[in-house]
Amino acid sequence: MLGAQANNSSNDASVLPQVWDTVERLHANTLEMPVSWEQVEPVEGRFDFTFLDTLLAQARTRNIRLVLLWFGTWKNGGAGYVPEWVRTNLKRFPRKLDDTGQPLSALSPFSRVTLEADRTAFTAMMRHLAARDAQNTVIMVQVENEAGAFGIPRDRSPAADKLFDAPVPAQLAARTKRSGKTWRDLFGPLAEPAFMSWYTARYIDEIAAAGKAVKSLPMYCNAALSDPFAAVSNPKWISSGSPDWNMIDIWKAAAPHIDLVAPDIYTRDWRRVDAYLAAYSRPDNALFVPEIGNAADYARFFWAALGRGAIGYAPFGMDATGYVNYPLGAKALDPATIDAFSSKYAVMAPMARGWARLAATHDGWGVAKDFPPADQSHDFGDWRVTAQFDRWFIGDESWTFVKTDPSPTVGQPVGGVAMLHISDNEFIVIGSDVRIRFARTATGRADRWQYLSVEEGKLDDSGKWIAKRMWHGDQTDYGINLPSVPVMLRVRLGRLN
Ligand code: DGJ
Repeated sequence: MLGAQANNSSNDASVLPQVWDTVERLHANTLEMPVSWEQVEPVEGRFDFTFLDTLLAQARTRNIRLVLLWFGTWKNGGAGYVPEWVRTNLKRFPRKLDDTGQPLSALSPFSRVTLEADRTAFTAMMRHLAARDAQNTVIMVQVENEAGAFGIPRDRSPAADKLFDAPVPAQLAARTKRSGKTWRDLFGPLAEPAFMSWYTARYIDEIAAAGKAVKSLPMYCNAALSDPFAAVSNPKWISSGSPDWNMIDIWKAAAPHIDLVAPDIYTRDWRRVDAYLAAYSRPDNALFVPEIGNAADYARFFWAALGRGAIGYAPFGMDATGYVNYPLGAKALDPATIDAFSSKYAVMAPMARGWARLAATHDGWGVAKDFPPADQSHDFGDWRVTAQFDRWFIGDESWTFVKTDPSPTVGQPVGGVAMLHISDNEFIVIGSDVRIRFARTATGRADRWQYLSVEEGKLDDSGKWIAKRMWHGDQTDYGINLPSVPVMLRVRLGRLN
């Protein structure tokens, strides 16, 4: 899925032309678009899917697939997209309480009434899709948006207090393999987010299950992320209850109807991005990046996600409405910013199916330039691959006999590669602004190898390689140098002893 996510308030027919314009410029094949509870059930029990119908019709004429984002009980932890009849009835639809007993914007996951009302609306939307979208223009549904609540470790309502004082549910306790009964025993300093994650995920799972019973589409939940290198983060900056990187096990146990949980990435720091990609790509969780900043800095991370087998990627805020979410994303969606993403999508778009087929069944590696831009390596059996950045295409450190200017990529947030290990000595490589070097891992044999062939080409829909031309000489003597406009190669290697 070469995706793009529209801005939050772009779920209106009047704005769609500005959305499609950007989707097309990006060469995206899928649009992620909010559909809100407020929009579909403005009056309790009366449903209106006019916008969804318009969206479906326009997506089909453009041959674009959709991911619907259900902005229901939670949108970034708040209740910003619930209908007014929910928003104004604090008694019937209780909020989370802070530690002074004051209601917050966030609705409480401990209310059956709220759950059932959200479930009714969500199921109505899925029923509408079942009736109107037999061809699956909608390929996936996000249930809620960054569920949780910022600023409080946990809901302090009496209902929540009671459950927090009760033993951890047996189904979850059994999975932790730690001894004890209470949330504190089993989760220590993460007891409160663990507790909120469990009950938020249980709540959402019921909604997803009801929706799937009507139309069985893949469903996922997206996460507001805490620092991947901090064991415990300041509650002010985390969304307690969200499927954060350290809550994935709890979400997996609590929400069997949620096919995957997914990271919303808004850091430009490669090491952190890498940690998030690693955390969310697991045998029980397909990697999917439903949101990432839309500044050019984030475009190179596409290669890293792809190499790790991501099933989709979507920069956030991709429409020409004039709204920009800097400092999270770009200051402006100018041509250079669009090009950072579209140059990659344009090359991958005709090969997306072929790549997906190969990536599903082969090991991969993906990497992006760090700052400072150190070499990064990965071993596939006894082959070692090293990605280098900020190199000209010819020469190396030993070339002291000629004065050389710094590469034009120095200081630029570009450079990355994705590769698949097709068979023992064969790799498919795609990337931009990167040099790839191969070596053997065995002591004393690092350079005891040769290229059998380096071919530029592409994949067909079945994943079969279609060669265009051979690379030799300067094109391979100093590593394989992928230019700014991405190129795909098939590399075959031979051992010399
Ligand atoms: C993450 C949320 O999921 C998005 O809807 C949006 O609010 C961004 N943060 C910030 O622009």
